[in-house]
Amino acid sequence: MGQIEQLQEQLKNQEKLASLGLLSAGIAHELQNPLNFVINFSKMSEKLVDDLEEIIADSSDGIAEEDREEVADIMADLKENMAKIIEHGERATSIIQGILLVSRGKEDEFIPTDISKLVKEYVWLSYHAMRAKYKGFNISIHESYDTTIPRIMVIPQDLSRAVLNVMNNACYAVWDKAQKAPEDYAPEISISVSTAEGNVIITIADNGEGMTEEVKQRLFENFFTTKPIGQGTGLGMSITRDIIENKHGGKIAFTSELGKGTTFTFTIPIKK
Ligand SMILES: Nc1ncnc2c1ncn2[C@@H]1O[C@H](COP(=O)(O)OP(=O)(O)OP(=O)(O)O)[C@@H](O)[C@H]1O
Ligand SMILES: [Mg+2]
Repeated sequence: MGQIEQLQEQLKNQEKLASLGLLSAGIAHELQNPLNFVINFSKMSEKLVDDLEEIIADSSDGIAEEDREEVADIMADLKENMAKIIEHGERATSIIQGILLVSRGKEDEFIPTDISKLVKEYVWLSYHAMRAKYKGFNISIHESYDTTIPRIMVIPQDLSRAVLNVMNNACYAVWDKAQKAPEDYAPEISISVSTAEGNVIITIADNGEGMTEEVKQRLFENFFTTKPIGQGTGLGMSITRDIIENKHGGKIAFTSELGKGTTFTFTIPIKK
């Protein structure tokens, strides 16, 4: 392995670790609610069993007539609590299983995927993340999805990251332009998913800042970024190219005009 490949390998691992850290924080957060249920209902059930024991201890010659109803109620409550413990415990388990699936290297598996649905999901994920970051900032999103495309073989985890990277850049580009542009600038991003000649074509177009000649030349370089420190690592596009071209045997192309905007196109061959 050459030095450059080694460095790229190392970078990929670092990137994976970073996203794993984020993921773990999300998991911990998601698990807290079901586990609170499990713990609280278990505690309540313990108390109920104590009450039950007391009643039974008091009735050496069978359960007294007037206590029978109470005993029946406690039993019913206990059963309900147990059902809740099981329900929420299972929820916690399924969350963990979902995570293990991602982190155990299953991510390189090609799975029949509804491409339009995947793109739509990650477009909106990026949009909402951007809205959370720059409160009050609006973008008109135009979408055109061919919903008749049959499921095609892709690596969904990777393809979704590629969409997210390009969409994040598009959001940033329109936000960046809005900081300098006149009042009447209307930020727009257009997304389309279609097929042509045995390929799926995904395009993401923004009317943001666009790129200078230098940026166009260096866009796919590792660590190349024009963003302020803390805003960009400069890895997004090199990872995206790796995903589209090396992993999916596709092609990534772009056109960009300074001050007008940028369009990225993924062309991915449909595997038989
Ligand atoms: N849609 C776009 N419009 C204008 N410039 C863009 C666009 N997409 C990418 N660029 C330029 O390409 C550079 C590299 O993009 P890349 O996604 O690789 O890194 P980044 O966005 O700076 O950081 P990150 O690693 O967080 O994605 C950006 O800093 C930006 O200058
Ligand atoms: Mg980026």
